[in-house]
Amino acid sequence: MSLSQSSYRTHNCGELCKKDIGKKVVLSGWIQKLRNLGSITFIDIRDYFGITQLIFSKKFKKNIELGKEFLIKVNGKVVERVSKNSKIPTGEIEVLLSRIEVLNSSISPPFFIEDKTDGDEKSRMKYRYLDIRRNPIKNNLKLRHNISIEIRNFLSKNGFLEIETPMLINHTPEGARSFVVPSRIHSGKFYSLPQSPQLFKQLLMIGGIDKYFQIVKCFRDEDARSDRQIEFTQIDCEMVFVNVNDVLIFFEKFIKYIFKKIKNIQLEPFTKITYSDAIKMYGTDKPDLRFEIKFLELNDLVQERGIEFFKKKELTIGITIPKCSSYPCEKIHSIIEWMKQTKIGIKDIFWLKYFPDKTLFSPMSNFMKKEDLIMFIKHLKANPGDLLFIFYGKEKMRNQLSQFRMKLINFLKKLKENIKIFKPLWVTDFPLLEWNNKIKRYKPFHHPFTNPKEEDLHLIKKNPENVRSQSYDLIINGVEIGGGSIRIHNKSIQNLILKHLGFSVKEIQSKFGFLIRAFEYGVPPHGGIAFGFDRLIALLEGKKNIKEFIAFPKNNSGKDLMIDAPSFLEKKKLNELYS
Ligand code: AMO
Repeated sequence: MSLSQSSYRTHNCGELCKKDIGKKVVLSGWIQKLRNLGSITFIDIRDYFGITQLIFSKKFKKNIELGKEFLIKVNGKVVERVSKNSKIPTGEIEVLLSRIEVLNSSISPPFFIEDKTDGDEKSRMKYRYLDIRRNPIKNNLKLRHNISIEIRNFLSKNGFLEIETPMLINHTPEGARSFVVPSRIHSGKFYSLPQSPQLFKQLLMIGGIDKYFQIVKCFRDEDARSDRQIEFTQIDCEMVFVNVNDVLIFFEKFIKYIFKKIKNIQLEPFTKITYSDAIKMYGTDKPDLRFEIKFLELNDLVQERGIEFFKKKELTIGITIPKCSSYPCEKIHSIIEWMKQTKIGIKDIFWLKYFPDKTLFSPMSNFMKKEDLIMFIKHLKANPGDLLFIFYGKEKMRNQLSQFRMKLINFLKKLKENIKIFKPLWVTDFPLLEWNNKIKRYKPFHHPFTNPKEEDLHLIKKNPENVRSQSYDLIINGVEIGGGSIRIHNKSIQNLILKHLGFSVKEIQSKFGFLIRAFEYGVPPHGGIAFGFDRLIALLEGKKNIKEFIAFPKNNSGKDLMIDAPSFLEKKKLNELYS
């Protein structure tokens, strides 16, 4: 018996069509719609596969009570539909019922179980099983399944072994807080849930595994938001005997394969820039390259020309917006007003329109020589028809420019046009460490196991903040999809980094003793990357909210509204832990 030929059904609700006319069928599913027209009643019956229209007469209905989301089993004959529905595959037929059986009744659902629902996020989370009945969520889960199969296929074919690593481990510093699990047997002691399998994948390499991967749950006790969950999934990978380029080349192929297989999109070669260039050109290490708008530093230029106006400014930066000289002045003012009023706080800014006939207009024309304005145009390589903005002020405004860039893009309404384009970017050479003024110590930019760049090794003792690392992030359309590095495989460098991070010799021994010990046994050079699986799926669908792609997500305050977790533990259980 095939799965669809059980006593509950001969067919599913998405497959009957014209060629089945005349067949006697059995279907089971939920009532999506019920339309009682007096003498006849129409029902839309829904299952995982689709919707089929059922029809029966008043005479037949008699004593059966029916309602939305009742689960029914029906027997009937497939007939041609009078008014056909071209929007669904079963739209040419309907099933004339001879028998109807209620398998289970339902109370009225809290929201419409249709593609467009009236349910707000809270009730969709609370009744997630009902939300999953809707096509958008169900299809997202199917997509997730298909992508995971492609990932497994590609990586397995390329020699990667899928290996599970433990979930009950000790805390390792990876930037976030860990969730802890008390041990009953070892009273007063705690396990931590992994923020990632970082150290275990490294230990697998020390164990002689050549290439590893895992589609794995990770747990981080941090504030959730649309692209961040406290419990999320990584595609975690590691390889031996590789350098940065080996990793970037292989995983560029991997991402291209996924896009081609899932979306039939051929991605162009990935752009690659260093962290410091990213900050200079875009004001962020996660630039959205769908928009060819980048910043150019003009410090040297304005100083060289001795333009009075800029003399005391720490930083002068320009940006060209192609083909926007016709953008209305009121709109430009509203952008500037927005900037002045928001926390972005960049107050010193002027603009310049370079018209297609090569004339120019700027509110600064009265205060600056025309040659100086022309110099900006030349230096920013602006073309006739472009709009230019020049910012000037303190060095720290650099960090805020990225927000301005995105705001500008929104203002210019380009976001929508570019929504289907994907622009992947490798950002490399992140700083190894950054100084944290609050805690007065260094923190790792990525994690403490990232290898410094060899050419910067001489700075590592005295100037560690100037050391760049062999690290990389994959950014697609402004979203961090993955990150990784070549790892330290030298005991003394690993020790030194941990010391820089403030660990005492004793702490290094107690927290990382296992790693340092393993470093005594011939560690191979190795490196890898982890991709955010939930983010990758959302990106492929052009969406931001990863919750839509997770079967049972948490809300933004880390709660599972359906099962009402987290919850208090009964006293008895607590006592058991502390006895
Ligand atoms: P990292 O911390 O950069 O690296 O994580 C890798 C990728 O995981 C995704 N990600 C998240 N997705 C959803 N919710 C979250 N809270 C969340 N946090 C991270 C991002 C990110 O790029 N062990 C290293 C990897 C390595 O060095 O190989 C690591 O975990 O897409």
